[in-house]
Parts: sequence; structure tokens; C-alpha cells
Amino acid sequence: MKNIKSSEISFEKKIVLLRLDLNVPLQNGKITDTSRIDKIIPTLNFLIQKKAQIIIISHVGRPKGKMVAELSLEPICKNLSEKINNNINLIKSNPKKINKKELFSNSDSNIAMLENIRFYKEEEKDETMFAQSIANLGDIYINDAFSCSHRKHASVFSITKFLPSFAGLQLSLELEALEKITKKIEKPITCIIGGSKISTKINIINNLIPKFDNMIIVGGMANNILKYKKHPIGKSINEDGCDHIIEQIFHHSKKQNCKIIYPSDVCVGKNLEGSATIKNLDEVLDDDLILDIGPKTIKNIQDIIDKSKTILWNGPAGYFENTNFSKGSLEIAKKIAKKNELNEIFSVAGGGDTVASLNNFGLTNNFNFVSTAGGAFLEFLEGKELPGIKALNYYV
Ligand code: 3PG
Repeated sequence: MKNIKSSEISFEKKIVLLRLDLNVPLQNGKITDTSRIDKIIPTLNFLIQKKAQIIIISHVGRPKGKMVAELSLEPICKNLSEKINNNINLIKSNPKKINKKELFSNSDSNIAMLENIRFYKEEEKDETMFAQSIANLGDIYINDAFSCSHRKHASVFSITKFLPSFAGLQLSLELEALEKITKKIEKPITCIIGGSKISTKINIINNLIPKFDNMIIVGGMANNILKYKKHPIGKSINEDGCDHIIEQIFHHSKKQNCKIIYPSDVCVGKNLEGSATIKNLDEVLDDDLILDIGPKTIKNIQDIIDKSKTILWNGPAGYFENTNFSKGSLEIAKKIAKKNELNEIFSVAGGGDTVASLNNFGLTNNFNFVSTAGGAFLEFLEGKELPGIKALNYYV
């Protein structure tokens, strides 16, 4: 796959169709987290410097093929425009009806943005004619939306059949980081995996066990292991009928020589807003909620991180939204950040809650790579081929 920097392609006076993921959270027309916008600024600056004319394509939300005023890209276009100090024209016409010649001739700017591409039902259906109409607007296609690449949609997948297609800078960085934790691994390698449901993470755990030395299971999903091991878990979150999943994990890990680590002590509360009490596993009462890992577990995880050369973190260790239960996640983040500072570890974190907790701790920049992708990040870790990435090799 070719990247826009490594390919020696000339962008001058070419029209670049740039697929971005500007799917940022909006509340009453205001953007509440601009991370996804901030990340793609280097790509835009690169193309501006190369004198390209740029048409940005993105979606926000799930309008399901209908015009939804609250899901207009308008506030996002404005925010991006201010950040790059350049006018961006938001084109509200249906891409099938846009006249290519008029796109930049009536404008003082070399950058345009199509309105939310998911306003058109053809996008999610990956309709070839729709993809071709968009492709007809440009000369080159760039995908810098790793987080949309698991979607077989027209502006991600079929569009690549009609134009020379390249990976953007951010997509390349993300793939490079993910390859370092799945293919070009420096061992020992450890995965810290949390979240509330073990059933949603089982494919990732199974895919990673053969490659990883340690699999540390924390968060709500660790309660299933504690329950399986006959420890009391009180009122804590857990899933029914998961014993076969746990058995599968232990069986698989034994065969593959991957160590499974789960909490050896916990922090409990009586409700989500409450205070924390440290408990040994056999001290958990019927009305207790396990909401974080305890100090012995933290110490054990820190020792494992110390001995690791590569680390992947997906899913917080506890209910970090209440600071009384954020200690586990905070101490893990601090330990990784410290090893990172000393250049002793390659660290990747991803997943909505993990990124939110790192943002809360102010430690996002202390990791080698923090992925803002949701579904695409998880599917990649499950070992699935992402259609949008595969498609970048189609056009010859
Ligand atoms: C994301 O937020 O993960 C991407 O923008 C994809 O959005 P989707 O889950 O609505 O396809």
C-alpha cells in the first residue's frame, strides 16, 4: 500500500478526494471532543503545501441516508477551517449533481468539504455508481480515516476502483503502530484488556493469545473470571453463561504459553457514586460492587509492565468516572508513561473509555500511539482484514 509521503506522486493542481473521519461528538451543534479533527491537520497541511486542491469527504453520526440538520458537517467544517487558517467551502449539493469545473473556479479557496456523506443512502450500501460519481470529482483518492476502514462503504471501499488510491499520514501511522503489536513484535509483549463484557472481547483475546506473553484481564469483565473461580462478586456487573468462554481462554493460553493475569484484590463500593474499600477476594459482600483493582493487583501489573517491551491497553481497570475508583487505571497509565519516557517500551492504547481515561489523567501524549478508532481498532485486533485498507491496493 502506498502512502502519500512515500509515493513520489505530484499533487500540484490535482484534485485530491480526502476521506477523513470527522465523526466527532456533537452536543447542540458544539463539538465536545476535537481529537479526530486535530489528528488530521498534518495531512491537510502536507497537501496544502503540495499545492493540491482538496475535497474532504466525511460522515458524522448515523443519519441513515436522510438529511438530518443536527448532523450537518457545518460546525466541523468551521472548526477545521479555523485550525488550518484556510477557508473551506461546505458543498451542500448531492455529490452526483456537483459540476467538477465549478468546484474551485468560483471560490477563493482550494479546499472544499462535501456535506455528511451518510445523508445519501448509497454510501452505506456501497453503490458503485455513487462511488464513481464521487470519484469523478477528483484525480487522486486518499484514505486518512483508519477508524472508518472496517466499513465497506462507497467513500471508503468502491471509490478506490476508480482512482489511484493512497493511505494518508494518520492511517499509515495507525497501521504502523498496530503492526508493532500484532506482527513486528518486540517481546515480552503484554495486553491489558478491560471493559464490561467479556463476550465482546473474546475474539480479540483468542487472536492475541498466541502472540502475547501476558494477558491481563481487568475491569467489569474480570468479574466473570472471579465468579468462575468461585470468588464472591456481590452485585458486580457480570455476564451469564460465560463459563465456556473463560474455560476456552485458560485452555488456549496454556497451550500457547501466554500467562493470564486477573485481579488478586479489589476495590468495592456500595454504589457507583460511593467511596472505595480495598478488599481481598474472599471478603466481598453480597451488596458490594467491584469497581476497581486493588493495590496488590496494581503492583503485580506494574511489575509485568516493567518487564515488557511492548504493551497494548484496551479497556480501563475500573469505574474511572468516579475518581475513587480510577486508581487502577491511573497507576497503569503512569507506569506505562514512565517506561515510555525512558524509551523502554512501545505502547499502544485504544478504545473510547481508555482514551477518555488517558485524557482525564492528561497522559494521552505519553503513549507511542493512542488510537481514536473504535470498531476498526477492535476488528483489526481480532485479526480481521479491513475492507478500506485492503481496497487501497486495488487500483493499478
Ligand atoms: C467510528 O466512530 O468508529 C467511525 O466514525 C465509524 O462510525 P460508525 O460506527 O457509525 O460506522
